[in-house]
Amino acid sequence: MKIQSICCIGAGYVGGPTMAVIAKKCPDIKVTVVDLNEARIAAWNDEDVSKIPVYEPGLSEVVAEARGRNLFFSTDVDKAIDEAEMIFISVNTPTKTYGEGKGQAADLKWIELCARQIARVAKGDKIVVEKSTLPVRTASTLKDILKHTGNGMNFQILSNPEFLAEGTAVEDLMAPDRVLIGGDQTEEGLKAIDALVNVYARWVPRERILTTNVWSSELSKLTANAFLAQRVSSINSLSELCEHTEADVNEVSRAIGTDSRIGPKFLKASVGFGGSCFQKDILNLVYISRSYGLNEVADYWEQVIIMNDYQKKRFSKKIIKNLYNTVSGKKIAFLGWAFKKDTNDTRESAAIYVADHLLNEQSNVSVYDPKVTEQQIYTDLDYLGSRTPEENKESLKVVNDPYEVCKGAHAVAVLTEWDEFKTYDWQKIYDNMLKPAHVFDGRNIMDTKALRDIGFKVHAIGTADDN
Ligand code: UDX
Ligand code: ADP
Repeated sequence: MKIQSICCIGAGYVGGPTMAVIAKKCPDIKVTVVDLNEARIAAWNDEDVSKIPVYEPGLSEVVAEARGRNLFFSTDVDKAIDEAEMIFISVNTPTKTYGEGKGQAADLKWIELCARQIARVAKGDKIVVEKSTLPVRTASTLKDILKHTGNGMNFQILSNPEFLAEGTAVEDLMAPDRVLIGGDQTEEGLKAIDALVNVYARWVPRERILTTNVWSSELSKLTANAFLAQRVSSINSLSELCEHTEADVNEVSRAIGTDSRIGPKFLKASVGFGGSCFQKDILNLVYISRSYGLNEVADYWEQVIIMNDYQKKRFSKKIIKNLYNTVSGKKIAFLGWAFKKDTNDTRESAAIYVADHLLNEQSNVSVYDPKVTEQQIYTDLDYLGSRTPEENKESLKVVNDPYEVCKGAHAVAVLTEWDEFKTYDWQKIYDNMLKPAHVFDGRNIMDTKALRDIGFKVHAIGTADDN
């Protein structure tokens, strides 16, 4: 079966870049991305491609090439569903904030709404593809809804989890390590799998396209993220030990990473991992394990989250301790708010929690991030609910100039590993700060020796503090 039209419900960080790359690579397939959020769709359609709502290196070029040719962004969800042979569901599945499973289970409200909408609108057979990260066995929920509320059409459900990392999404989509496609092992299911394999096979070598049953595919997505996050928590747990001994976590990381069985990636100690996936997926794994009564399994994975929360808190405590145990009334400048470099996404960013902790200690925080908007920063803080929006506006300032943000500060904290931070005139920054001037490098990206030569007291993750 050769697919000619695709629709994707959800024009976010996953749906947008994924569909843009499919459209680029398959000019003969019509790809329509739909979303309920009108402002978001308007931004995707902005004549000035630098204004698209997701910042990813290389993405605006891909959108410029395909948009209007075979890539379309629209709010008309029904029409897009009706016209497509294959429908990707790429809506958000945040951790539940209420009721049963609160704080752990994924909220499938939006997924269910999509399924009901597809069932209502579809006038022909469709292949429905789960693209969002979902708890294991969501496909069976989807199937159930489609079967019982549909107009007697035949729906095949595939799981095709996304492995792109933000900041490198276009690169990851163009040359993925693997594409994973799970489906029913029936004649119809295998046909549907084959249809999707043929889409990716236009640019991905066949041996990198793995096909499995639906459950293996769903579980692989959760556990790939859990394994990655576990590496970060493992190295972060050692960072504290290093700070108390004379070991240097960067040296330890290099030494263990050169063992080819361990490998060098994802061993960078930091203020803690963020992003929309790691925490959510692990919590999901924990929730599923517990629901099967597997408490040891649940506890094992939960510790990865506990370690990460601890690391964020430890970083703010490090700032407070080194500023003579009080930050009340002191200005602390943040460089970076995004959860990692090269993205404007801030979901679960460590910066939010560090800022919250410092604001609770009556500090004045000023923030500069190259891509995150002022409005987003306040939304993130207000969402935590520790203070009123007015109080947040009063004690946290967003500044759009990196030199201005550091002026008059007691300390600069590096929260995101943006490359540009390393290229600043740090002598100029030092001259305009209160003394002693501190740098707290939450990402271990700075040249600590050069900073010390200027006169800064430097505190990185996993090495002893300057005193
Ligand atoms: C992750 C997975 O990598 C991706 O495959 C999946 O599809 C979605 O989730 P993402 O959340 O975009 O991608 O970013 P990732 O690069 O994995 O980083 C997650 C967090 O871990 C970031 O906050 C990052 O700064 C942090 N991190 C990563 C470290 O602190 N140290 C490291 O060594 C690596
Ligand atoms: P992700 O990182 O998973 O892509 P985002 O939050 O960036 O998550 O994007 C998800 C998008 O899905 C949002 O733009 C949201 O408006 C959209 N969405 C959620 N539910 C629906 C729905 N029922 N129909 C259409 N779009 C939806």
